[in-house]
Amino acid sequence: MTRILVRGGRLLDPSQERDGAFDVLFEAGRVVAVGEKLSAEGAEVFEANGAWVAPGFVDLHAHLRAPGQEYKEDLSSGGAAAVAGGFTQVACMANTSPTNDDPSVTKYILDRAEKESAAKIRPIAAATRGLEGQVMTEMIALREAGAVAFSDDGATIMDAGVMRRVLEYSTLVGVPVIVHAEDCHLRGHGVVHEGAVATKLGLPGNPAMAEEIMVARDVQLAGWTGAHLHVAHVSTAGAVETIRRAREAGVKVTAEVTPHHLTLTDAATLGFDTSTRVAPPLRSREHVEALRRGLVEGVIDAIATDHAPHATYEKEVEFTEAPPGMIGLETALAVCLELVREGVLSPLELVRRLSTNPARIFGLEGGSLAVGSPADLVVIDPDRAWTYDPGRGYSKSRNSPWADRAMTGRVLATFVDGRLVYNLQRGVNAE
Ligand code: DOR
Repeated sequence: MTRILVRGGRLLDPSQERDGAFDVLFEAGRVVAVGEKLSAEGAEVFEANGAWVAPGFVDLHAHLRAPGQEYKEDLSSGGAAAVAGGFTQVACMANTSPTNDDPSVTKYILDRAEKESAAKIRPIAAATRGLEGQVMTEMIALREAGAVAFSDDGATIMDAGVMRRVLEYSTLVGVPVIVHAEDCHLRGHGVVHEGAVATKLGLPGNPAMAEEIMVARDVQLAGWTGAHLHVAHVSTAGAVETIRRAREAGVKVTAEVTPHHLTLTDAATLGFDTSTRVAPPLRSREHVEALRRGLVEGVIDAIATDHAPHATYEKEVEFTEAPPGMIGLETALAVCLELVREGVLSPLELVRRLSTNPARIFGLEGGSLAVGSPADLVVIDPDRAWTYDPGRGYSKSRNSPWADRAMTGRVLATFVDGRLVYNLQRGVNAE
């Protein structure tokens, strides 16, 4: 039975409020000891040499495209991209083909993931059949098949009566309902944030109010039903304020924000780069500042990638015709380290939002390196300089605004259940 000692690192474990020089010992896939200068007797040693050692990241929001759109991504490439980015668990969205609205699809995803993915895959099932916002899915059967949450993703449930029922039934299974909050009528054909940049580009705008009004509706419904609402990729100042007030009033609401909404503004779209077309759109500076404040204050609990792969031929079209989305699993850490360098978050607080909080929100084991936890662990060099080349990455797609950009901070190694599944020198599944 392999015993591994990760020695000489700076342990960042928010679940134990630990930030310091500790070794981590694991055996049979579980952490068996954490302490200063642990004995290496009978163990293989992984020398961390001062690098950061943290619980593996947990992504609450990724599109892994299987089944049905494996030309964009599959569970093997998505799982590899995940562990190369430090993610040991990834929740995958239901907008697959067929939709994940039936236990047979949920089981298929889990079965394929078991065989193909280096990361643990946690399927999110649809809240309504075919993401059509009308007929509820069989939530209990989907939960029993392994779904960790319910969501219609980009297809907002516009009928408040259906949304009420979805929230009510979710309390029977005790998992969150995730909303991509956007009033589709207010959004109209908007493809960029409604404001000066949209006017300059001559592109139709998507107003902040389209998100703000729907978050307001959904926290009301969550308060009424007592359900757990999770707001995906918050992008507006108004939504942050609504979530803050709802939480203060006792509503069970949690929220995530993406690395791109935290670091890019709508100005990134000025060159018509279609990889900057995302839903919700990149917003103006004031919104980005509000998201950062919300993240620091804990109104927004987690950072999630919304990794959304699309083929190059699909993105190499007019801006209005390009499907929304950018990939993010392999760049999330380096992009988020900007927040540490700018003094917005400490390293420990960043790990809390990438790992400990997301695990807690979905009720997943993980997000901790306390004794007894799964040995899901990431080793990070926060100062490592590199250039991101999506063509040499693990995702099948290349739609990233950070392509060919200089990055700082990189994952050196990732362990899942005590197994070294990624190492910067040798790649994925190197042991
Ligand atoms: O940017 C996005 N891409 N937002 C969504 O809601 C869907 C996603 C996708 O599936 O590509």
